[in-house]
Amino acid sequence: MTKYLEAPVAVVTGGGGALGAIIGRVLAEDGFQVVLVDRDRAAVEAVAEEAAPPGRPPVALAADVTEAAAIETMVGEVGGRFGRLDVVVNSAGIERVHALETMDESDWDLTMDVNVKGPMLLSRAAVPFWRKQGSGAVVNISSRAWSGGSANTAYASSKAALVGLTTAMAVELGPLGVRANAVAPSFVLTPFNRQRTDIDNLAKMVERYTAFTPLRRLVEPVDVANAVAFLASERARNITGEVLHVCAGSQLPPVVGEP
Ligand SMILES: NC(=O)c1ccc[n+]([C@@H]2O[C@H](COP(=O)([O-])OP(=O)(O)OC[C@H]3O[C@@H](n4cnc5c(N)ncnc54)[C@H](O)[C@@H]3O)[C@@H](O)[C@H]2O)c1
Repeated sequence: MTKYLEAPVAVVTGGGGALGAIIGRVLAEDGFQVVLVDRDRAAVEAVAEEAAPPGRPPVALAADVTEAAAIETMVGEVGGRFGRLDVVVNSAGIERVHALETMDESDWDLTMDVNVKGPMLLSRAAVPFWRKQGSGAVVNISSRAWSGGSANTAYASSKAALVGLTTAMAVELGPLGVRANAVAPSFVLTPFNRQRTDIDNLAKMVERYTAFTPLRRLVEPVDVANAVAFLASERARNITGEVLHVCAGSQLPPVVGEP
């Protein structure tokens, strides 16, 4: 089997999804050997095939990020194929909308498992590589919802917990030369939002977000990917424990009373 020992290796979860796919593409353009991981094998294989740049095609692997054994097996395969693991991007995520009063416990648990436990499991599995290599980086895809203003209880809680995980890892793993950061996008038009609403409502959401956002435009998937690529790169070598909002300014609360 071919070994690309010269290229740093980036594992991107949710690689079969909209943001994971483009994050993988931008990281590949930046010289990473990309491994796309998703529980949806068909989706992740299709993305890898479509992306395939000449020279260093991305590898597609199927794994459910909530299952420790599946993560260990997947990371073992990455180690076997490439001999290293440099960057972890945790983009796999789900959203289940319930009011607190009628919160479905199994949806709450699943949201926490995918959005928080998954990133912890994969980061944990990467530590032996980072320890050996003396460097590494993790970029967690949180959400604008992490910092307040969202009534989407389970999702907002999970994305805030993911920021907590990010800052804790930054402190714990810093002495190993490992950086941990989060990217917090606002609404991006991807199939993700179909989990909570229909097409008509999506069109209204786009209008509302655009009107409310200081830059008066929607965040595009590539904007998120560029932020991830920066945080994964040596250019960000002294940046850790941060949350980079990719929100076109919508993370800034309007001043109460101003028109
Ligand atoms: N799209 C947005 O508006 C938006 C905004 C802010 C943050 N985010 C975050 O960005 C991330 C990616 O969003 P997207 O728009 O690409 O969504 P998407 O639905 O297109 O992709 C998510 C991917 O995660 C995979 N996945 C779900 N559960 C999994 C599991 N248990 N194991 C492995 N893979 C699993 C899905 O199969 C899917 O391919 C998510 O974490 C989401 O919370 C999205």
